[in-house]
Amino acid sequence: MAHLLHLDSSLRTVGSRSRTLSAYYAKCWLAANPGGTTTYRDLAADPVPHLTEAAFTANLVPAEERTAEQARERAITETIVGELTAASHVVVGIPLYNFGPPSTFKSWFDRIVVPGVTMRVEWERPSVTIVAARGGGYGPGTPREGWDHREPWIHHAFSALGITDIDVIHAELTLARESPAMAPLDLGAAEDASLEQAHQEIDALFA
Ligand SMILES: Cc1cc2nc3c(=O)[nH]c(=O)nc-3n(C[C@H](O)[C@H](O)[C@H](O)COP(=O)(O)O)c2cc1C
Repeated sequence: MAHLLHLDSSLRTVGSRSRTLSAYYAKCWLAANPGGTTTYRDLAADPVPHLTEAAFTANLVPAEERTAEQARERAITETIVGELTAASHVVVGIPLYNFGPPSTFKSWFDRIVVPGVTMRVEWERPSVTIVAARGGGYGPGTPREGWDHREPWIHHAFSALGITDIDVIHAELTLARESPAMAPLDLGAAEDASLEQAHQEIDALFA
């Protein structure tokens, strides 16, 4: 059955473009998959604990040999990875923070890399849509072209799990009006056009 895992990672609860886009995606997905089900996880409000030595090594020893701490950590990992393996599709809202993904998303990712579950075994891999927001402009020919390190990392990290069906949709210039440094550049119309383009790219996925 069609099942969507919907993740957000913006620290903002108000004004977040990535949350707006992931919610729009989920609405379109539900319309296209009548009877489909969803799981929602807010990685900013409810962060996945960082990988620790106990969490990492818990994945390397049989259940009966785990310490109490490893067992607790493994239970967290199984909840997170279970949400992924249950999904036929994943949508993730990801802001650009300091030229990379939010650490909350990285913590989630570190938990889904599990030998015998998502690594090196046959499993029904989901397709993934990333809806990404960034404050500046990073297009071809701009001074910061190539500085957004999310997209290459996302492709590499997911491909290590055999997940290669990935769409990445960007809304950019989101600080055009919010940032005192960018406001004089008068890029508000370009910001609006980028967000509209992102909505259209989502529409096109379901056309
Ligand atoms: C901690 C932090 C770091 C940020 N770093 C960058 C950055 O490196 N480059 C950039 O273009 N925008 C940066 N921004 C701006 C965000 O990418 C922008 O506000 C984006 O719209 C956030 O996603 P959201 O709208 O879903 O909250 C940063 C914002 C925050 C809060």
